[in-house]
Amino acid sequence: MTAKASSDSLMEEIVGLCKRRGFIFPSSEIYGGYNGFYDYGPLGVELRNNIKQAWWRDMVQRRDDIEGLDSTIIMHPDIWKASGHVDGFSDPMVDCKESKLRYRADQLFFAPVIVEGETIGYVSVVECPEQQEVAEKAAATLKRKAGKQGELEAIVLKDYTESKPEEYDLIPSPATGKPGSLTAPREFKLMFETKVGPLADDSAVAYLRPETAQGIFANYKNIVDTGRVKIPFGIAQIGKAFRNEITPRNFIFRSREFEQMEIEYFISPNADWKTLHREWIDTCIDWLVSIGLPREGITEDIHPEDKLAFYSQATTDLMFQFPHGEQELWGIACRGDYDLKQHQEHSGKSMTIFDEAAKEKYVPHVIEPSLGVDRTILAVLSAAYTEDEVPNDKGKVEKRTLLKFSPKIAPVKAAIFPLLKNKPELVERAQALYKKLQRRWNVFYDASGAIGRRYRRQDEIGTPFGITIDFDTIEKDGTVTLRDRDTCEQRRVTEDELIKFLEEQIDG
Ligand code: GAP
Repeated sequence: MTAKASSDSLMEEIVGLCKRRGFIFPSSEIYGGYNGFYDYGPLGVELRNNIKQAWWRDMVQRRDDIEGLDSTIIMHPDIWKASGHVDGFSDPMVDCKESKLRYRADQLFFAPVIVEGETIGYVSVVECPEQQEVAEKAAATLKRKAGKQGELEAIVLKDYTESKPEEYDLIPSPATGKPGSLTAPREFKLMFETKVGPLADDSAVAYLRPETAQGIFANYKNIVDTGRVKIPFGIAQIGKAFRNEITPRNFIFRSREFEQMEIEYFISPNADWKTLHREWIDTCIDWLVSIGLPREGITEDIHPEDKLAFYSQATTDLMFQFPHGEQELWGIACRGDYDLKQHQEHSGKSMTIFDEAAKEKYVPHVIEPSLGVDRTILAVLSAAYTEDEVPNDKGKVEKRTLLKFSPKIAPVKAAIFPLLKNKPELVERAQALYKKLQRRWNVFYDASGAIGRRYRRQDEIGTPFGITIDFDTIEKDGTVTLRDRDTCEQRRVTEDELIKFLEEQIDG
């Protein structure tokens, strides 16, 4: 007996809006799409760039202790041997021999169904927020079909990596609902391989980077040698990463090509790393709130000590309430000196730094805040998506969909409307303001349709401000109407007041 996760309507609404309004499209859609790959359309690329720019500005340009870097995607393969990725970067997978579907073993849950001490079968469920409820329902159905009386024991779900060999044939495949077709869990390598140069043999094998972090470690010496940094300091990088995920899913949450914003923050081995770790966690939370995520939607998942990698001192993930449940958004790890020592050993180059203040030479330890761009976009979209009811031009209350983006990251900052498109004096004035604002921000000009409909189109893509040029503008005092997306409130402002307001809201 198997149970399927219920689909989440908020996610469907977001995916639909993203496609309809040109934020995000499935990659290669004219060929039926390509699982785990997404393209960003005209509005999506603006949102993406704004998020990356906000991060870069706050984490690199506005800090004295962090330097930027842009390293290559394909690097010397020895880097991935030193980092441990060639040998260890894998996920446990399980195949269904009948359906040919593949699952991540740690995302496939199962439980024996026990009635009065007798195991009458198993249920399985693919990880989802309602998995316990779904599994209990499936167990009750199994009991009914088996014609068993008596009390059903509590359903205790375990993930498939914890299954015993004698259970493989008893656990039903989520694809077919029948037992007997699941394989034992096997390790699946996540790095994409390619070949570099004219030789086709194994010596040409290279990898698409699965994280940007190793590019930072590989350049650490270059940056130290340029002489501008002193402990503690960080190196930041934004860039593409590639992982051959077994089960890419939940839209852009887990994809095979994505982008990361990572910092390696180098500290003294004698530093109070726990306090510095806490400071980084707080900095990361504050930054997420600054781009519009609700503080109450962010929680901390502290990895238990017995689940940490052997070199890791501590890891805290910032979790966010995504439409498909609470999941990792930002990992903040204390990795000790593991990475630099590995590169020191494999490259034969010293990774020590001379700490002027302490008059000591050492290989620094590192704190690593690592955030996915695409996951941040999904978090921002989920938090911004709103449905409410507002009066239309005729005063009738209508449902509207809006994206409550912070002005800092909104793809379009303001829309400029002439009240009527057939009045040249209104159009000319609106065009002049549009051209002026366009020199500083991504703004939009729209003259077609009733003004209420024009507002609505902008609400749906998250444009925070609507600016209307009407007869008062040209005949009276030059003021324009400034409309707020969220409250729909309108007020008249002079052009100087408008520019000052936009500066504060967008660049502030
Ligand atoms: N250098 C450390 C590192 O890469 P990670 O937890 O594997 O750690 C860091 O990844 C962040 O990258 C995650 O918190 C997530 O935001 C993002 N990320 C990881 N895998 C992803 C995927 N397949 N699709 C989208 N984002 C991903």
